[in-house]
Amino acid sequence: MAKSRVAVIGSGDVGRALADGFLEHGYEVMRASRDPAKLDAWKANAVAGASTGTFEQAALWGDLVVLAVKGTAAESAVALCGAANLAGKTVIDATNPIADAPPVNGVLSFFTGLDDSLMERLQRLAPKAHFVKAFSCVGNALMVHPDFGGIKPSMFICGNDEGAKAEVGRVLDEFGWETADMGAAEAARAIEPLCILWCIPGFARNEWSHAFKLLRA
Ligand SMILES: NC(=O)c1ccc[n+]([C@@H]2O[C@H](COP(=O)([O-])OP(=O)(O)OC[C@H]3O[C@@H](n4cnc5c(N)ncnc54)[C@H](OP(=O)(O)O)[C@@H]3O)[C@@H](O)[C@H]2O)c1
Repeated sequence: MAKSRVAVIGSGDVGRALADGFLEHGYEVMRASRDPAKLDAWKANAVAGASTGTFEQAALWGDLVVLAVKGTAAESAVALCGAANLAGKTVIDATNPIADAPPVNGVLSFFTGLDDSLMERLQRLAPKAHFVKAFSCVGNALMVHPDFGGIKPSMFICGNDEGAKAEVGRVLDEFGWETADMGAAEAARAIEPLCILWCIPGFARNEWSHAFKLLRA
């Protein structure tokens, strides 16, 4: 079966890590920025199958979309993609609702509350898209082929569409993760704050090389 065309919305570290991961696994990738020229060096150094575009061009072109933008800009990024261009597509949502405030004793602030999540807000903006939370609770350096001495870490995912979650599960298999499906979109209220927990050892002790594992008896 032909591999999906992957639109990666994001010119930052997460966009680069995931775009490179998809290319390595034989997918075609269009990476997007509001200013695509920013990505010229990446495209010049990437393997075959890499292209660049605007958020709207990539969202229209991709079969599978990855959203990897600053949390405070995620809603406007979805608007720039165009809800109609995302309709019927799986959208991997790697964003976190980190507020524009410094961490307090290593603890980040979110602009969402406990009974809300960024992914639910995005899902409301593009109701026909199939958002799946994934890659939000680990650093970009560990997103593809995380090496924990043969132990697969868990990637917590959630979303309202079972087919979309199955598609993301296949990607996670390829990238070396065990998928922990937490259910529907509301579970993003629990998954997104794992980012706060994940960052604490980083801010406190400059330790950034860990991931979560769900143990089952
Ligand atoms: N860094 C990590 O290791 C990590 C790990 C897990 C999850 N995350 C989450 O992943 C997301 C991306 O993180 P990142 O570190 O790769 O990069 P980032 O600096 O948080 O985001 C960069 C992207 O945000 C877009 N952006 C910024 N302001 C915007 C605006 N006003 N309107 C539209 N788009 C805007 C930029 O667009 P342009 O290209 O047009 O400038 C760029 O594509 C964040 O939500 C972060 O919390 C990060």
